[in-house]
Parts: sequence; C-alpha cells; structure tokens
Amino acid sequence: NANGAKAGRTRNIVEKMDESSKNCVIFYGSQTGTAEDYASRLAKEGKGRFGLETMVADLEEYDFDNLDTLPADKVVMFVLATYGEGEPTDNAVEFYEFITADDVALSEGGDPALGNLNYVAFGLGNNTYEHYNSMVRNVDKALQKLGAHRIGDAGEGDDGAGTMEEDFLAWKDPMWAALVTKMGLEEREAVYEPTFDIVDRDNLTRDSPEVYLGEPNKMHLDGTAKGPFNAHNPYIAPIVDSRELFAAKDRNCIHMDIDVSGSNLAYQTGDHIAIWPTNPGEEVDRFLDVIGLTAKRDNVISVKALEPTAKVPFPTPTTFDAIVRYHLEICAPVSRQFVSTLAAFAPTDDIKAEMSRLGNDKDYFQQKTSPHFYNIARLLAAVGKGEKWTNIPFSAFIEGLTKLQPRYYSISSSSLVQPKKISITAVVESQMIPARDEPFRGVATNYLMALKQKQNGDPNPEPFGGSYELDGPRNKYDGIHVPVHVRHSNFKLPSDPAKPIIMIGPGTGVAPFRGFVQERAKQARDGVDVGRTLLFFGCRKRAEDFMYESEWEDCKKALGDKFEMVTAFSREGGKKVYVQHRLKERAKEVNELLTQKAFFYVCGDAANMAREVNTVLAQIIAEGRGVSEQKGEEVVKHMRSANQYQEDVWS
Ligand code: FAD
Ligand code: 2AM
Repeated sequence: NANGAKAGRTRNIVEKMDESSKNCVIFYGSQTGTAEDYASRLAKEGKGRFGLETMVADLEEYDFDNLDTLPADKVVMFVLATYGEGEPTDNAVEFYEFITADDVALSEGGDPALGNLNYVAFGLGNNTYEHYNSMVRNVDKALQKLGAHRIGDAGEGDDGAGTMEEDFLAWKDPMWAALVTKMGLEEREAVYEPTFDIVDRDNLTRDSPEVYLGEPNKMHLDGTAKGPFNAHNPYIAPIVDSRELFAAKDRNCIHMDIDVSGSNLAYQTGDHIAIWPTNPGEEVDRFLDVIGLTAKRDNVISVKALEPTAKVPFPTPTTFDAIVRYHLEICAPVSRQFVSTLAAFAPTDDIKAEMSRLGNDKDYFQQKTSPHFYNIARLLAAVGKGEKWTNIPFSAFIEGLTKLQPRYYSISSSSLVQPKKISITAVVESQMIPARDEPFRGVATNYLMALKQKQNGDPNPEPFGGSYELDGPRNKYDGIHVPVHVRHSNFKLPSDPAKPIIMIGPGTGVAPFRGFVQERAKQARDGVDVGRTLLFFGCRKRAEDFMYESEWEDCKKALGDKFEMVTAFSREGGKKVYVQHRLKERAKEVNELLTQKAFFYVCGDAANMAREVNTVLAQIIAEGRGVSEQKGEEVVKHMRSANQYQEDVWS
C-alpha cells in the first residue's frame, strides 16, 4: 500500500527481528521528521561501522507487551522527540502510555521486568519550552525502573539553542564506544551500501497513468481520494479566499480561507491545520543540476528497498523531479553528518578533502555554511566549484534527507462560525542573508504566497510565486487547491462561555485568538452570556502590521464592553512597547480576573515572548497577592497543570 499502511504486517517486534535476523532496532517518536532521520542515520552507521544488523521502526507500528522477551544479545535504541507541552509525538502516544504506566503490562513480567533489555536513548527537545526533553527523560526513568540497562548516556538535543545536530553527533560516538564494549563489536572501515535500488522503468513515461507525480498515495493517483484525512493522506482543499493582511517592505502576511466542505474534515476552535508544501522550482532545478540529473529529471523510476525492514518513503513508479519536488526536504540546512557521508562521492580528490574537512570539523563547518544558509544543493555547488556530483547514488539522498514535512498553522477561525472553512494567518518567511545579499525564503510560507498570487492573478508573481509548480498533479482539480490535514490541539476556550479569558498574541500569535473572539462574538449575538474577553496584541506600527483591524471592531459591536483589545506598538515611540509591558500596566485587573478563574492564553514566539509573559504574570500575581515572586511562579506552574494557563507557541 502506497501510503505506508500496515496491512498484514506483524506488530510483534521480537518476531519481526527474528524473522529478519536483526539484532538492533531503532524506534523513533517523531513529529517533524528529525527523530526519524536520526534513527535512520543510527541504523546506517551501526551497520556500516559496526556490522550490526539494524532496523528502523515507527513506535506506532509495534506493541510492547513482549519487550521483556527480547534476548539480551539484542539492543533497542529510542530516538524520542518531545512535542509541545512535554507531550509525546503523535506516533509515540501509545508507547509512552504503556511504558510509563504504574503497572506495566508485560507478557511474562519476571523480576526485574526488563532485566534483559539493553537500550540506548536520545531525545530531541527545545529548551525554550517548559518540559525540556521530557519524553526521553521519562522513558529513560521508566525503563530504569523496570530494570533495563542503558548503554552510554541518554543524549539530549536542543533545538532551542540551534545545536540539535551537533548535540546528536557529540552524543553518538561515546554511545557507540559503550555499545562496542557491551556487545563485543568490532569497528570496521565503513563502506557505503545503498538502502534503495533505483530501477529504470523505460516502458513508462511521465504521462503514464500509473506514474506518481506528487500524489501521496494510490487513492490520490486514481482520483478516488477519500477520508480519513490525516498525516498520511491529505485532503486537497480548494482555497476560497486569500489575501495579504499587510505587505510591509520586507514582510508579508497572508490570510487564507480553505474550504473543507468536500471532506469529512472537522476542526475545533484552537486546532492546527497542516499544510503540505511543494518545494520551489528554483531549488528543485538547482538540486537536479548539481547532481547531473537535469536531463533525466522526467525519467520514470521505481525505488525498491534492498532489505525487508526499510521503507520507501513515497509511492513509485515516479520521476526524479517528483521525488525532489514533493518528497524531500531539500531546502533545509545541510547536515554535517550527511556532508561527511557524501565526501566519498566527490568528483575530485581536492573536493573530497574539502568535504571531509567540513564533515569532521565542527567549527569549520559552522563558519563555512551558516552565513550562507546553505541547503544541500547550494553546498555541493559551492564546494564543487562547477563540477557535477554524478557519483552520488540517488539512494543516498533518499536516506540522508528528511521527508518533506507538512507545516502547522494555528487555525484563525472559529468552528462555531465557519465549521467547514478553515482560516490561517501566516507570515511569509523572507529574512535577509547578508552573505548572499538576498532573502532566505521559507518553503511553506512562500508556497502559500505563490498560491495566493495565482489565485488573485497577481500580475508579477516574482520573486515569490514564480517558481512553484502549482498546476501539477496536486492541482489537477479546477481552481486553486492546497493539500491539508487537521491536527487537534489542547488549546481550547473554557467550556463555559461566561468564564473570563485573557489572551496574549503578538504578531501571528493572534491567529487562534481571531477564532476565539469570533466565537465569543457569535455567542453574544446569539444571546449567550459571555465573560470578559481581554486580548493583548502587539505589532510594529498601527499603520504597518496591525492585522484584522476592522474585524476586531465588528466583534466589539457584538461583545460591547465584554471585549477589549489592548495594543502594544513596538516601533511607534522611542521605546519598545511589548504585550508584556501592557500586561503589567493592567496588573490589577489581570490578577482579579485570575482569581475569578479566568483562562490565560499565550500564542506565538516561544523563544522570548512566551517566557517573558510567564515571568511578568508571576510578578503580577506576586504583587497582587502579596506573596514572593517564587510563590508567583508556583501559582503559574499550577495554573499550567490545571489547564488554566495554555500555550500555543512555536519557534
Ligand atoms: P522553513 O523553510 O521551514 O524554514 C523555517 C526556518 O528554518 C527558517 O526561518 C530558518 O531559520 C531555518 N532554515 C530553513 N532552511 C534553512 C537553511 N537552508 N539554512 C539555515 N536555516 C534554515 N506560523 C505562522 O505564520 N502562523 C501560525 O499561525 C503558525 N502556527 C504554528 C503552530 C504550530 C503548532 C507550529 C509548530 C508552528 C506554527 N507556525 C505558524 C510556524 C509554521 O509552522 C512554519 O514553521 C513557518 O511558517 C515557517 O515555514 P516555512 O516552510 O516557510 O519555513
Ligand atoms: P519588534 O519587532 O519591534 O521588536 C510582533 O512581531 C510584535 O512582537 C512586534 O511588535 C515585535 O517587536 C514584538 N516582539 C519582539 N520581541 C518580543 C518579545 N520578546 N516579547 C514580546 N513582543 C516581542
């Protein structure tokens, strides 16, 4: 089945490892593909350097009640991302509940229950969030409690500090050393062995009906797509309206209304929508060019896994062009480990030496790549100085690059007001790169921009929309479409509309609050008793980037004094004014509302704003209630665990 469905596959990991003669399984809990990518890298390295028989496994695809029957000569690796408020990733929820249960339901349950289990653990987290790396910490603790033996230290990567890759690389070598000792392995000269075979399908052309050109699965190829729509199966939704909320010199913000009435997709106010982007044509061209595949871009190929536990991450037969455009994260920052792998395939000895140095010397790599925002193709072009990299097996890219990931957006409409029309509010990523004298362009937001430009028939779509493929197979429908699915979140209005709410949402952080306020305005119009609705919004200047200004006024008409919007314009006066400054000015009222059990919401930038708001709120509580700041912090912590303080933040 093309969408990686699991029909007929065993959920018994012990059996699976036995039948495929594996002695090392690497489980991943991944939300945005990075943990999955690291799991694949460990598998590859374990096999290449140490002769381990490795397999990668999605936590969601196995049961764990017989983990206690796994023999002691095997090893289990866990690569676990922490998502949002210390939650497991979607695919790790069941495993996490299982392993951290008070009474773990193992099949045989000797004592100690997991005394035979040897494991390795690495976590992916973000220190700007409250529960840093809580997944790996809690799983490690749970495994220890059950008597399992950890090999090496439990590693932690920090996305907040931007050091994820380096943290991973620094952790893995001592881990391998410990594993070598424990399992009596021998290190050997690593030789690259492809995981996938690329088979020419000369009998097919790009136009043959069985050839995938970006369709995510067979139903989409056959034009019979149906729900459930989810992370494996997007709904190709018509865009009903798209416009720019503001277009300052270097910043654009897009509002888009997406029609899901043709599907069974449902959402609740506060949920997220995932947008499945397409890579910009300019980058697809650059990638194919530097590896010498431009002339063959439309050749039809099948991709076959060379060993039974590997999975081809997209459906085939397909073309090189479609793989690169729709399935690989080719624009992301280049990985040092991948550079090191590719050195072996350099076109000349000099280039090989430079690639090896980049791959092995962390500081040199940093210094050469960071200022340029190099993605893989840009790096290969720069290091190759005009030489093409025709020796790299295409399999290496499928293994070494992350799958192109959907991006999440906080839904900016109310499901009570428009249940089948989902709004999003997205700032287009285009930050200036001084070393290149051109902006860095984010994949999904510029794709949204391109869709908006096409829908509006904007006369001059460059520099944004020019190079996206918008008439491709994902758009073989009438009108302009975008592939989406909905992810439910815990960011929710109080069930009782009479409860007061306080919302903090500067910039695009205001997105879900547009939905919240819309919902309360409708309730008020319908005669429902609605509580105080206090919104703190911040932007640069009223005349520059104040979003939805007239809509707030309409809501004010419906809600009257119940609704108040407090604004912080950061670049109008001499001094920066931020939402947290305004919050402080309103300390008395805020504290009073909290004692009336007001819900407190923060949305937007996780790195600085959300933290500072937390601190200010603790101060407000401390002063208002005559307690210490530490006690104020404790109150906020308690509010968080009681869901009275909710965050929807990203970095
Ligand atoms: P990407 O291409 O993914 O790039 C993102 C960043 O990665 C860049 O800015 C850069 O810092 C770095 N980067 C990428 N490639 C390179 C490179 N080659 N070299 C160096 N650095 C690089 N956004 C909104 O606008 N509105 C919302 O309502 C919203 N809600 C969200 C809700 C959630 C739960 C989450 C997790 C995120 C939300 N976001 C929202 C953010 C959104 O998901 C995207 O991350 C954002 O729009 C950027 O996507 P992009 O594909 O355009 O950028
Ligand atoms: P600035 O860009 O002028 O510094 C939306 O992006 C708004 O959030 C802008 O007014 C921006 O101000 C502001 N902002 C930037 N950093 C912030 C922070 N740490 N806390 C709160 N608001 C911030």
